[in-house]
Amino acid sequence: MKQIVTGDKSITFHSDEFDETYHSVSGAVEEAFKKFAEPALEAVKGKDFVRVLDICFGLGYNSAAILDKVLEEHLGCEVEIVGLENDEKILDKIKELKPMIKTYYVIQDAVANQYFYDCEGIMVKILVCDALKGIKQVQGKFDIILHDPFSPKKCPELWTEEFFKEIRKKISDDGILTTYSCAGVVRENLKKAGFKVEDGPCVGRKAPSTIARPGAP
Ligand SMILES: C[S@@+](CC[C@H](N)C(=O)[O-])C[C@H]1O[C@@H](n2cnc3c(N)ncnc32)[C@H](O)[C@@H]1O
Repeated sequence: MKQIVTGDKSITFHSDEFDETYHSVSGAVEEAFKKFAEPALEAVKGKDFVRVLDICFGLGYNSAAILDKVLEEHLGCEVEIVGLENDEKILDKIKELKPMIKTYYVIQDAVANQYFYDCEGIMVKILVCDALKGIKQVQGKFDIILHDPFSPKKCPELWTEEFFKEIRKKISDDGILTTYSCAGVVRENLKKAGFKVEDGPCVGRKAPSTIARPGAP
């Protein structure tokens, strides 16, 4: 696994297995905030307790970015994060990193404490599992779903109508899913699974990400 310094100076890695980087090389932390955390924040406002499902947890940047935004915007809610990740080698890298995310210590503490953290209204549980199985096992509904697999070309099983249908069962009626891809087939699969989709932010000059909510297309 080769370490790469991305455009915003944050670290990502290159996966030899998937021949792809874990984040956008234009800026790994920037991607976590702009494509995943910020568009999802709408699902937090007005709630005392928010549940987040982080599918393909990796280095946990997306979850930590959510925590930073909740604190920064004084949203004052308790947050429970459940992460699904099948590779302990990437989780093991978390302890070495110092990304510009204030709450990253929460993710590091969780990794140091058998993938569990519970303190002052923040709970994090990381489940080491195949997301295809994990999605069926997690209990209850989630307000925010962060969907961040490797690309549809390299990891097609996590972008299918069937997988999105399983995710649809786990999202609250007013929940939000954020994902980085805007590929036509991805959006079609989301729609067939019972989501309506819209463009998310464009980061740099790249194509938009996708925001999906439960509902008819
Ligand atoms: C693009 S990276 C995600 C980066 C991550 N969200 C972050 O903030 O660092 C994709 C992740 O999906 C994981 N992964 C690949 N296949 C998986 C599967 N079937 N189930 C769970 N995780 C998987 C990889 O190990 C990798 O950590």
